[in-house]
Amino acid sequence: MTGGALEAALPRLRSETPACAEVVHFNHAGDSPSPRPVLDVIETHLEREALIGGYEAEHEAEERIEAAYASIGRLVNATTDEIAIVENATRAWDMAFYAIQLSAGDRILTSVSEYGSNTIAYLQVADRTGATVEVVPNDEHGQLSVAALADMLDGRVKLIAVSHMPTNGGLVQPAAEIGRLAREAGAFYLLDAVQTVGQMPIGVDALGADALAATSRKYLRGPRGVGFLYVRRDRIEELIPPFLDIHAATWVSRERYEIHPSARRFENWESAISATLGLGRAIDYALDLGIEAIWARIEPLAARLRTLLAPISGVTVLDLGEVKGGIVTFTVAGVPASAVVAALRAQRINTSVSPVSSTRYDMEARQLDDIVRASVHYLTTDGEMQTLADAVAAIASSHALRS
Ligand SMILES: Cc1ncc(COP(=O)(O)O)c(C=O)c1O
Repeated sequence: MTGGALEAALPRLRSETPACAEVVHFNHAGDSPSPRPVLDVIETHLEREALIGGYEAEHEAEERIEAAYASIGRLVNATTDEIAIVENATRAWDMAFYAIQLSAGDRILTSVSEYGSNTIAYLQVADRTGATVEVVPNDEHGQLSVAALADMLDGRVKLIAVSHMPTNGGLVQPAAEIGRLAREAGAFYLLDAVQTVGQMPIGVDALGADALAATSRKYLRGPRGVGFLYVRRDRIEELIPPFLDIHAATWVSRERYEIHPSARRFENWESAISATLGLGRAIDYALDLGIEAIWARIEPLAARLRTLLAPISGVTVLDLGEVKGGIVTFTVAGVPASAVVAALRAQRINTSVSPVSSTRYDMEARQLDDIVRASVHYLTTDGEMQTLADAVAAIASSHALRS
């Protein structure tokens, strides 16, 4: 689809999204409600499980399960043996990160806007191994400085790991440039693409990623409780997963097991088959619309929302970066983010709080307390953005009147 065709299809796309009739949803970066075709696939599979038994329903769905891997492959330009489907993006990311062998003196380089769960993992592994965690400074746009990264590289840099788009803002990191430097330095490049997959075109080769983690429930509009990991074919076998089971490995004799040769070594035996099928359907839905067309709609929508919010007295819009995507963040002077979100929710307008602890390096550097996150998707309309801006203006002015 072209951008114009996507816009023309909006009434249909919104009418097949039940949430559009219920709420004004600006929390797509948290969870983007699924369209009816995705719900149908999930519900149908759950019905089959109830009717014929879970294992039998899985057997019946074997080809469609494999098709879900192929859909992920098409989405990120990978082969199916490079894909693992797991419970969520954090577990996907963990399975790659904890498999990288680090030792004393090894350096992990990350970005200022890195996601909290990832930094906790760096700190844990640094404590255990004596590796160091270093934060690459930002450039004048508030994104990772590619020049500073180039200066920091040496033979001890084992891992470069960044969030492509942080949880707390629309910033799109220069991921391909980072990938190029990682390749030159011989460092492993682990990309957290949780907020960008489904929102913008993602090709693992173009980005130079050795591994990439993503989720179903955000910009892909799939179900909760499922995510995936991509690992480049030639790096799979050097990564020994932190956990193994009878799916990730085979117990071949009393004393021996063999680890799965493909990325399925990062999976585990039990999984929500309905969620895998729902993820596959959500990806096909997005691919039918066209990821280019989705991005061509989201980027200007979010820019328009920033221009609606910025002039409101007391409101500060906070997004950084040369390129900005669908996450819009702001504060209302004198009103805690949680109170703004609660007041909006009372009007059936969904936003969320981005707490300091999710992106501490960045929030501390900008002296920010918790902030409000309003994220758009291609479904978002100008009318909804005006509704949000009017509601935020009312919250800001009622606070100004009280103080
Ligand atoms: C940048 C980023 N990385 C990772 C995650 C974690 O994803 P999941 O909750 O699917 O594990 C999030 C969730 O909000 C995120 O925004």
